[in-house]
Amino acid sequence: MGIEEKVLARLLPTGEEESALSEATADLVSRLSSDDEARELGMEPRLVGSVAKGTYLREPDLDVFLVFPIDTPFDTMASICERLGGTNLDSLERRFADHPYVHGLFLGYEVDLVPCYHMEMGERVVSAVDRTPLHTDHIIENILPHQRNEARLLKAFMKGIGVYGADSRSRGFSGYLTELLILYYGNFISVLNAAADWKQGEEILTNSGVGGFEDNLIVNDPVDPRRNVASAVHIDSLSVFIHASQEYIVRGDERFFFPRMKAIMGVNDALEAISARGTRLLCAIASVGELSDDNLHSQAHKALNGLSLLLSRRGFKVLNSKHYHDGDLYFIFELEHDTLPVAELHNGPPVWVDNSQDFLSKWRGASFGPPFIEDGRWKVFRRRSSTTAADVLRSSLKEASLGAGLSRNGMTVLDHEGTLKEDLMEIVTEFLDTRMSWDV
Ligand code: UTP
Ligand code: MN
Ligand code: MN
Repeated sequence: MGIEEKVLARLLPTGEEESALSEATADLVSRLSSDDEARELGMEPRLVGSVAKGTYLREPDLDVFLVFPIDTPFDTMASICERLGGTNLDSLERRFADHPYVHGLFLGYEVDLVPCYHMEMGERVVSAVDRTPLHTDHIIENILPHQRNEARLLKAFMKGIGVYGADSRSRGFSGYLTELLILYYGNFISVLNAAADWKQGEEILTNSGVGGFEDNLIVNDPVDPRRNVASAVHIDSLSVFIHASQEYIVRGDERFFFPRMKAIMGVNDALEAISARGTRLLCAIASVGELSDDNLHSQAHKALNGLSLLLSRRGFKVLNSKHYHDGDLYFIFELEHDTLPVAELHNGPPVWVDNSQDFLSKWRGASFGPPFIEDGRWKVFRRRSSTTAADVLRSSLKEASLGAGLSRNGMTVLDHEGTLKEDLMEIVTEFLDTRMSWDV
């Protein structure tokens, strides 16, 4: 049996799972359509997403859209959606993508219940979700029966290598995008063969789309030429996918689809690995507070950049940095040095400039000696306010541009030794062990 056949055998739902799923969806849809208030408004519930398209993996979520006529007030839709969620789903949560919706459980299945407007092809949408039923129609109408499993393989491959999902955590490929790639290239392996030669800015124009987008990957939406379906794909997700495709073609392996866990390092092993490099670790831990999952990751990316920038402005060279979410948010840095000399060089004005006198009188009594001239400018050694990277983070968090929702006061900063502790080893392992997921 080939690798892909073996993988499919693990991916495909059993007959029992399939019939339980279709019973559950039929049950949920009929409950939703029997609500009097919603029915009078002309709402029709509609199963969309991978279950409707037959491209779902094991334990799928049910994506059910409540499709309202275009003249329905938005607040009415939102409140009916909440009420129907409340009466039909367990563990209800209000969520927000670019549009409010609810999430809950129905007979153990995860359900996204999303209100949207009815629209026809070519009409302007009110919000992005209004296109989803058209996306679902497009795939159902165009996918060949055998291509459903090809789409499943591609999704599972992308999941395995960590680039599946267009949300702010994954910054990768959405389910719809994987299906469009299968339609365009025909099957799983042809997508990988093509991707092995992709470059940044690759343009894949479906259905005579026009392109002209400035993104890392461009796949125009066949149901709306103004939209790039791949706009969420981050340069690193694209790069991992290109590399994984090249590797898989040469040496296919089930581990691309089903990666193994990295063995968590012991403190001593981590110490040894990091001492061999001669570099230093630094960790900042922030409490997440009220932030929703989606906000959390976009803010975490910004905060990581802000903290790295602060460290390098203050003289610490950042070699690598990542963030992890595990209850709290962990920002971890690998630095060339984590201490700097107490003195730093401070540049003054050129000697002939008027305010040189001010500079001279300010620094005449400096503890490391008076100003001196180099290359026509005054210079002086002054005292650094913080000499360790950990102190820079502790004392200067206000300078770093953190995402607005992350509380700055709530940060705990750990130095090299503080980071190399038993309870952080899962994160430290993930950070230090740079092997690709399929090589573990
Ligand atoms: P999913 O993320 O569930 O993708 O969104 P999928 O195609 O079903 O793939 P898998 O198998 O579950 O991973 C389903 C559709 O619902 C829309 C998405 O745009 C997608 O087309 N959606 C979902 C929203 O628009 N907003 C949401 O909050 C959730
Ligand atoms: Mn889904
Ligand atoms: Mn969903």
